[in-house]
Amino acid sequence: MSENLKISAAAGVLEIRFNRPDKKNAFTIPMYEGIVEALRQAEADPAIRVILLSGEGAAFSAGNDLQDFMNNPPDLGAGSEPGPVMRFMRALSTASKVLVAAVQGPAVGVGATLLLHCDLVLAADNARLSLPFINLGLVPEFGSTKLLPQRLGHIQAAELVLLGEPFDAATAQRLGLVNRVVPAVELDQAAQALVCKLAAKAPEALLLTKQLLKSGGDTLAQRIDEEAGHFARRLHSAEFREAATAFFEKRPPDFSRRS
Ligand code: COA
Repeated sequence: MSENLKISAAAGVLEIRFNRPDKKNAFTIPMYEGIVEALRQAEADPAIRVILLSGEGAAFSAGNDLQDFMNNPPDLGAGSEPGPVMRFMRALSTASKVLVAAVQGPAVGVGATLLLHCDLVLAADNARLSLPFINLGLVPEFGSTKLLPQRLGHIQAAELVLLGEPFDAATAQRLGLVNRVVPAVELDQAAQALVCKLAAKAPEALLLTKQLLKSGGDTLAQRIDEEAGHFARRLHSAEFREAATAFFEKRPPDFSRRS
């Protein structure tokens, strides 16, 4: 299990806590693999009723590790053997157990799109969500080009993914991406209270209710594959290389360069 995850189980709740605070909990391959394994164990364990996703430190997650994207772009092609990122997306989007996220600070890229697959999202008042794919020369992933317009309507979704600007917890709540906003110091306590309440519900009814809410997911799986094909190709593009290089050089990207 990755040292960058803290996994604990108590009273019907499995908590998966991203634990790479010095890198704002940016996801590495071992982290994806660890999350997939934790979700697999939770699926197989009837004692686990609810899964809580949380982040250690000041951020929920800065999304995929950009260094990994540059040095070792994942093969996300629909036809290829699913790698860790794809297995992570499939495990989370098809989880039968109730998924809750507790979000503080930045939730960027896949750190934000994963919230679309959670059943309940609690946000600290300092949460800042961002879908910066366009600014990196990439395309949105994890079914977000389907789920966002479905939930927010086209023009709100378009604003988020065409401009790629961060937005705060209050905006996320207004848009319907977040259930509740709490003061940052109360986030962990509020999340624990919420997951305990859920874990005390009738277990079979809880599973069935989630199953009913999520039914009709087949076309979403196809969209995830389609986006992933584009995304994988974009990781090899000059635009992405320029954007990621600019990030580490702490300068704005210059997409007018031709290479
Ligand atoms: N991949 C790799 N390293 C990352 C990272 C990422 N996605 N996000 C942050 N880091 C690293 C930074 O390089 C920095 O490392 P250093 O201390 O060795 O220089 C450290 O984490 C802290 O990040 P910093 O940018 O100083 O923190 P911040 O609080 O000012 O900003 C973010 C936080 C998340 C807003 C900002 O780091 C960011 O925009 N990260 C990139 C997010 C992104 O584009 N993700 C991919 C989406 S597809």
